[in-house]
Parts: sequence; structure tokens; C-alpha cells
Amino acid sequence: MNTILSSPTQGLSGKFRVPGDKSISHRAVMLGSLAEGVTEVTGFLEAEDALATLACFQAMGVKIDRLSEGRLRIYGVGLHGLKASENALYVGNSGTSMRLLSGILAGQPFDSVLTGDNSLTKRPMRRVIDPLTLMGAVVNSSDKGTSPLEIKGGQSLEGIQYQMPMGSAQVKSCLLLAGLYANGTTEISEPAVTRDHTERMLRGFGYAVKTEGNVVSLRGGGKLEAMSIDVPADISSAAFFLVAASITPNSDITLEHVGVNRTRTGVIDILLKMGADIQLQNERTVGGEKVADIRVRSSQLNGIDVPENLVALAIDEFPVIFIAAAYAKGKTRVTGAEELRVKESDRIQAMADGLQRLGVDAQATIDGMIINGGPVYGGEVESVDDHRIAMAFAVAGLQAEGVIKINNCENVGTSFPNFVALASQCGFNLNAK
Ligand code: S3P
Repeated sequence: MNTILSSPTQGLSGKFRVPGDKSISHRAVMLGSLAEGVTEVTGFLEAEDALATLACFQAMGVKIDRLSEGRLRIYGVGLHGLKASENALYVGNSGTSMRLLSGILAGQPFDSVLTGDNSLTKRPMRRVIDPLTLMGAVVNSSDKGTSPLEIKGGQSLEGIQYQMPMGSAQVKSCLLLAGLYANGTTEISEPAVTRDHTERMLRGFGYAVKTEGNVVSLRGGGKLEAMSIDVPADISSAAFFLVAASITPNSDITLEHVGVNRTRTGVIDILLKMGADIQLQNERTVGGEKVADIRVRSSQLNGIDVPENLVALAIDEFPVIFIAAAYAKGKTRVTGAEELRVKESDRIQAMADGLQRLGVDAQATIDGMIINGGPVYGGEVESVDDHRIAMAFAVAGLQAEGVIKINNCENVGTSFPNFVALASQCGFNLNAK
């Protein structure tokens, strides 16, 4: 799929399930592999990023059966049972794989190399290298602090107390995973609450993790016991439909079995503040994670100042939140979101550029964007090889004044391979070539 053409449509409807949560899918493979016993996973995200993690653990000697779509059986090897991979571990576009794996690999007796695609090799890795080094790990990178990462095995790790300079669940998770192999306690303070799937899943695997406010800690030297994991649908994928149905008159859709962990629901809170009509139904807890069906209907959105305390809780959803802002009445301001500049692309620049090409008054700032809602015209935009930019502009086409052509959309496969099919089924007017 090279380009997506997105044309205006009349209304969206349907009740369906988007693919499994990417963050939880990565962690299910990692912890299932490091556990003792057999872990069964359902709802696993069969997309490039999570499959890259799976391939890495297979390369390190873990037997993982892919039973059917979304179902895995992982034969855990225990915390000390991984074997050196014959080749470098390639994680494609996946920052989560690289950062979380670096924590695990720092605690192994063997050397490893982690590599990724062009976009990933530009992303900052010092944020994990520096604290891992403080723990006693030896990690070599390029002079710029980017991958490939060479991780020396056989080091003795020590627990540390670490104040994270940025809100990042990947850094927190990396250090918790290294902490499993460290002497003593690893304690991490985060400046803002970030997604807590690692902590929750570790507890599910029987490992004690303490959370007190913004401080998370665990002691090394324990073990993980296999369990079953039901991966909920990914709220980050659901977000495209939350905005789509909100901005398209005569829409009423229900997204089933979506993970609504409170560290992930910033997008719902932001859209509600903008006046969206979103209801959580059948709220339940599945395997330690909150899940709900989400009903969303059309509404008139209004511009808002996005509260900074919601930014980390909606970090992956900003591309499509910017689209909501373009269709809203009045001005939307996003601040405190500088992390968007180091995602799969510089998402502030990529979205501002694309919106401007569609005639929207969107000004990039250092840490966010100011958008004056108004008509969205047709035009040609670049995905800059970023899955969420591509899908966000597909949503923008739903109510535009003309057709939006989005270039280089292959990367949709990293998180949402059936996006075009599912979106078309509920009423999007897409043409993928
Ligand atoms: C993720 C954490 C976030 C998010 C990414 C997935 C995770 O990254 O953007 O898509 O699974 O831990 P940061 O930790 O860099 O904010």
C-alpha cells in the first residue's frame, strides 16, 4: 500500500473490534518468554512491531507457537534461560521493542546487538543507555546515542534510584526489566504518570512491584510464573474511530473490548472536553486491565487548551487529536508535548506541515501546536513513513472539501494492518493503492 486516497463520506456506523494493544502485546511476549511455564495469549497484535519482538525471543531460543490469529503459546524459559541470538536482533520500526529489550539484554550473560529500520536508528537511545549504565550495564551506541546498540553481557547490575527526566513508559519499563536482574531495589520516579502495563503484567506474573504515586520499584532476584493473557483492543487504534465518528455527521459506532486503563484514556478525556459524545459501556476488568465497549456518536467539537496533565496519557493519539482540532470550532492549543518530536517521526512538524497543505491554520510550536479550526481542503500530504500520521490524515478526509492523498502508507502495517478494511467497512471512503 503506497498511497491512501480518503474522500468525504456521509456517516459511519457499526460495532467492531480494532486489533490488540501494541504495548500489551510486546510485554506479553517478553514476560511470557521470561516466565517459568507456558503462557497463553489471546488478542495478540499480529502487526510488524509486536511480531518483531516475537521474532527476537524466538531468535534467543524461546519456543512460541502461533496457534491462530492473535493466539500464542509461549514456552517460557525463565529469567535466566535465554540464549544468545546468532544474528543481530532486528526490531524494525519498534521503539518499544528496542528500549524494553535493552533492559532485558543488559542482564544476560551473553552479548547482543539491537538494530532497527531507518526511522528507529534516528531515535534517541541515551534515555535508556544512561540509566542502564548507572546500573552497571555496558551499552555502546553511535556517537549520537542512537542504535545499533551493542549490549555487553555478563555484567553485574545494581538497583538504582532514578529520576526520569521525561515521561516515558519505555524508559520506565526498560529499567524495571533490568531491575529483575539487579541486586537490590530499582526505584524509578516519573515526572508524569505514564502507561503502567509493565507493572500490571509483572504483578500478573506473580512479581511484586510497588507503586506509590509517581514512584515504582521492585527488587531483583525473583521469578515470573506463567499465566494467560487476554490482550484488549488498542485504544490508540480505536482513537482514529473516536475522532472519525465525532467529526462525521450521522455517525454511531461502537468499538468493542477496548483497553481503558486510566494511563491510556487521555484521548477520551480530551475529546470529551471538546464536546464529543463518547460513552463507556460494559466496563470490566480482564487480566488486571480495564476494558470497555466504547460508543461514539457525531458531535460538534470545540477548540480547547489541552491540559498538560493529559499529554502523557494520550501521547500516541495526538496526530488524530490534531485532526479533531482542525474540525473543531475555535482554537485548540497543545503544550508540554515535546516528546511528540521524537516518535516514529517528528509528529508536531509532520502534522503541522500536512494540515497547512490542507489549508488549515496550524502553527507548530516547540512543544505542541496551535490550531484554528476551519475548513479542511483536499490535497496531498506525506505520512513521513509514520503509521499514525497516515491514519490521522485518512480520518481528515472524511469531511474535507476534496480528496486527501496520503503518500507512503506502508507503515500502517506496524500497528494496524487491517485499518483500510475495517475503516471502509464502517463507512470511510478509502482507496488504497
Ligand atoms: C510505549 C510508550 C510510549 C508510546 C509508545 C509505546 C510503550 O513511548 O509512545 O508508542 O509501550 O511503553 P514513550 O515511552 O517514548 O513515551
